[in-house]
Amino acid sequence: MEIKVVTGKLNKAKVKAIFSFAFSEDRKIHNDVQELDKQLGNIISNLRREQKFDGSEGKMLVVPTYGKIPADYVVLVGVGSKKKANLDTIRRAGANSIKKAKELKVEKILLNVESLSPVRAPGSKRAQAMVEGALLGNYSFDKYLSKKDNFKFKNIDIRVKRSHKLESEETIEVGRILAEAQNFTRDLVNEPGNVITPVKLAEIAEDLAKEYGFEVKIYDEKQIEKMGMNAYLAVARGSANPPRFIHLTYNPKKAKKEVALVGKGLTFDSGGLNIKPGDYMRWMKMDKAGACAVLGIFKAIGELKPDVKVHGIIAAAENMPDGKSYRPDDILIAKNGVSIEVGNTDAEGRLTLADALCYASELKPDAIIDMATLTGACVVALGEYTAGLMGNDEKLMNNIQRISEETGEWIWPLPFNDMLREHIKAPSADVHNIGSTRYGGAITAGLFLEKFVDQKIPWAHLDIAGPAHNTKGWYYHPKGATGFPVRTIVNLLLK
Ligand code: BES
Ligand code: ZN
Ligand code: ZN
Repeated sequence: MEIKVVTGKLNKAKVKAIFSFAFSEDRKIHNDVQELDKQLGNIISNLRREQKFDGSEGKMLVVPTYGKIPADYVVLVGVGSKKKANLDTIRRAGANSIKKAKELKVEKILLNVESLSPVRAPGSKRAQAMVEGALLGNYSFDKYLSKKDNFKFKNIDIRVKRSHKLESEETIEVGRILAEAQNFTRDLVNEPGNVITPVKLAEIAEDLAKEYGFEVKIYDEKQIEKMGMNAYLAVARGSANPPRFIHLTYNPKKAKKEVALVGKGLTFDSGGLNIKPGDYMRWMKMDKAGACAVLGIFKAIGELKPDVKVHGIIAAAENMPDGKSYRPDDILIAKNGVSIEVGNTDAEGRLTLADALCYASELKPDAIIDMATLTGACVVALGEYTAGLMGNDEKLMNNIQRISEETGEWIWPLPFNDMLREHIKAPSADVHNIGSTRYGGAITAGLFLEKFVDQKIPWAHLDIAGPAHNTKGWYYHPKGATGFPVRTIVNLLLK
C-alpha cells in the first residue's frame, strides 16, 4: 500500500473515492467539495439535504459521481462537533473512512485532511493522525480464518494544504511506523497461548534484534535461577512451557538518556492453583500485552531511531496449576532480597515484575516504565478504556499523561498513600502479594511493585488490564487486542 501526500484539485484526483470530512456545526459543505458539487450538478448538496446528513460523528453520505470526475464516489464523513474535535477525532475519522472504502471495494482513496483544518493542531499532525487512524482501522486478525477478505488497498492519498506538504511528508511516515508497530503488538497479543509460549516470545524478540540491530540476551530457567529471580521462577514452575527472560537493548551512538521498559509477559494466566473460574480465564492470552507492547515499541524505535538508549525487559512465563506449581503461603525471595509471602497465586504478574524491576534497577537507567495487565481492580476503578498510572516521579508521570492526551490512549493517575501501604504487610514475610482487602487493588499492586524499584530512579507503572484488550471493539480498535500503549511510549521516547 502506498501512502502519500497530495495537494491538487479534488476533481482531478486519480482515485476511486474521495473522502471529505464534515462537522456537525457546518451549514454548508466544505469549500473544496462545493466546487465538486457544482461540477456534479449539485448532487452532493441535494443528497445531503435529502438524507439529512448532519455531520454527526460516524454518519456517512456516499455520493456516486456517474463518471463526471475520475473518482467513482465522493463520501462525506461526519466527525461531530468542531468544539470537541481533536487529533483522536481525526484517527476515528480515518478508521471510519477506511472501513467504508473496504465496503465500497475502492482500493485507491483520497482522504481530504484539508477539510479538517478547524481541528486545533499543526497541519502535519492532522495528516499523521489520519494515517494512524486509517491503518489502525484497517487492522484485522484473520490469520486463522480459512476464508479471508482478500481486499487490499493500493493507494491512500493524504490531501493537505500546500504549505503543510513538506512537513506532512515526514509526519505521515511517523504515523505509518507508529500504526504498524501498534498493529504488530495487536497481532502478538491476539495469538493464543498454544502459539505464543515464553520460548516463542523470546524468538520473536531475537528476530526483532536481528532485523533492527538491537542487542539481545535471552536467559533460560537455569540462568534465571542463578540471577536470583526466585519470585519469577516460582510463577513459571507450574507450566510445561519453560520461562524465558528477555533483555533487548537499543543503543544509539549519541544517547542523551537511558530508559528501561518492563512488560508483563504472562503468555497465559490460568490463575495457577488459585485457578480462575472459566469466565475470568477467558481472554487471559492477553496477559502478555505489556510484553507485546514493549516489542511493538522496539519495532517503532528500530525505524524511528530516537537518541535515547532503551532497554526492553520481559520476564516471560505461563501461570498454570500443577504438582510443581507454587502455592498460597509459599515464601519467595526476590532478586533484591525482599521476602514475599504468597497470598494468591493469581496475583502472579507482580511476582514476575518484582524480579524484572530489580533487574531493570540494576541497570541504573534514568527512568523505568513498566506496563502490565496487572489487576481487575484497575478496570473496576477506571473502566475498561483507561489505564491506571502510578509511580514515584511526578514529572515522568505528568509527561506520560500529557502525551496520552495527544495519542488518545487514555491514562489516569491513581494515588499511592501510606494507609494502603499497610495493606500489603504479610504475616511472615516483608510483603504480601495481595492486599488485606479488595479495596484499592490496583494501588496495592502498584505499591507492591514499589518494593522492587530502586527509589533513586524515576519510575512509572501503567496498569493496562482494561484498555489492552476489548471484547466489543472500540473506536479504531476491532475486537481483541488494541496495541495500547505503544504510541504513547514511543512519543515519549521521541521527546
Ligand atoms: N492478569 C490478571 C489481571 C487481569 C484481570 C487482567 C482482568 C485483565 C483483565 C492478574 O494476574 C490477576 O489475576 N489479578 C488478580 C489479583 C488478585 C488475586 C489480588 C485480580 O485482579 O483479580
Ligand atoms: Zn493472575
Ligand atoms: Zn495475570
